[in-house]
Amino acid sequence: MENHLQQPVFSSDGFAALDAYLKELTPSKTFLLVDSNTSACIPEFVSQLTQLDPEYEVLEVEPGEDSKSIEVASGLWSVLLEYGADRNSLLINLGGGMVLDLGGFVASTFKRGIPFINVPTSLLAMVDASVGGKTGINIDGLKNQVGTFTHAALVLVEPSFLDSLPEEDWHSGHGEMIKHALLSGRNWPDILGLNREDLTVEMLQESIQAKVDVVAADFKELGLRKTLNLGHTFGHAWESFHLAAEAHITHGAAVIQGLHLALSLSNLSDVQQALQARYPWTTVASEYYEALWMLMQSDKKNEGGTVKFVLLEQIGRATWGHEISKSKCFEALDELNARG
Ligand SMILES: NC(=O)c1ccc[n+]([C@@H]2O[C@H](COP(=O)([O-])OP(=O)(O)OC[C@H]3O[C@@H](n4cnc5c(N)ncnc54)[C@H](O)[C@@H]3O)[C@@H](O)[C@H]2O)c1
Repeated sequence: MENHLQQPVFSSDGFAALDAYLKELTPSKTFLLVDSNTSACIPEFVSQLTQLDPEYEVLEVEPGEDSKSIEVASGLWSVLLEYGADRNSLLINLGGGMVLDLGGFVASTFKRGIPFINVPTSLLAMVDASVGGKTGINIDGLKNQVGTFTHAALVLVEPSFLDSLPEEDWHSGHGEMIKHALLSGRNWPDILGLNREDLTVEMLQESIQAKVDVVAADFKELGLRKTLNLGHTFGHAWESFHLAAEAHITHGAAVIQGLHLALSLSNLSDVQQALQARYPWTTVASEYYEALWMLMQSDKKNEGGTVKFVLLEQIGRATWGHEISKSKCFEALDELNARG
C-alpha cells in the first residue's frame, strides 16, 4: 500500500478522483464505514460516483468517542474476515474524526494494511482528522494511545455534508480552525470571528493547508509536527477527564480550553482575551487539578512523567517541548479561573 500524503480534493474534482481511483484499483470488495448519523450522507455520496461497486457493504458503528475502542475495531476486523475481505479490498471512511481514526486504524492493520479513503463529514474532520495519516483508538480512557501513521489513499472533501452537522460539532471544528490560524498566522482575526454561514471553501482549503504544510515537513512528528498539538496537552487531558466521567464534551471544545492555557503560558494575554470573547474559558475546580495533571503526564507526547507544552512566541510562530512545572501550570489555571 502506498503511504503518501494526499492533498484533499474538493467536491466534483474529488468525486472524479475517487472514480478514477476505483477504476484503477478495482477493489475485490468495497466497504463503507459510517456511524449511525453519518449514514445519512451515504445516498448523496453514492449518487456522485459512477465506478463504485453496487455490491458495497455498509459497516455502521455507534456515534461517539466510545466507538474508538479495541472492541469495536476487533468487531470490524471480524466482519471484514466474514465478508472475505482481502488485501485488494477497500475501506471508505465516511464520517467525522471518530470514523476516520477508527476506520484508518482498522484498515491499516487488517492483513497488514488495506487501502482506505477518507471522506470527512464534520468540519473538524475536514480541516484536521482527514489529513496527516494519524489513525488510532483510545485505550483505558486515554486518547489515541494505539494507532498507526498511515495516509489515506485519497481525501475527498464535500462541504455540503456540513449542512446537517449539529451546531456544537460545527463549533468543535471551528476550534481546530482557530488553532490552525494561530499556528500559521493566516487570517487569525477573521477565523476567530467566523460564523457558520460565512464559511467558504477557501477558508477550508487554507485551514487544511496549514496542517498539510507541517505534515509534509515532518510526517512522523520528530519535531515541527509537534506544533500541531498546540492546545492539546491540556485539551486531551480535559477530554479524557470528561470521558472518564461519562460527561460529553467535543474534541474542539477541549482544544479551545487547551488553547486558553497555552496562550496564558505563552504570556499572550491579549490573544487569550480575544479567544475568551468568542469561546470563554470553562472554570476548572481546583480539586480536579491533580487528576488533570496526571492525565497530562500520561499524554504519549511526554517522556518520563514531565509535561511538555507547545507555546506561541507570537501568532504564526509556535515552538514545542516546553517543560512546564506543576506549580506553574496550576498558577496559570488559577489565573484563568480568576480572569474567566
Ligand atoms: N487523526 C487526526 O489527525 C485527528 C485530528 C483531530 C481530531 N481527531 C479525532 O477526531 C475525533 C473528533 O472528530 P469529530 O469532531 O468529527 O467527532 P465525531 O466523528 O465523533 O463527530 C461528531 C458528531 O457529529 C456527527 N456527524 C459527523 N458528520 C455529520 C454530518 N455531516 N451530519 C450530521 N452529523 C454528523 C457524528 O455522528 C458525531 O455524533 C476525535 O476522536 C479526535 O481524536 C483526529
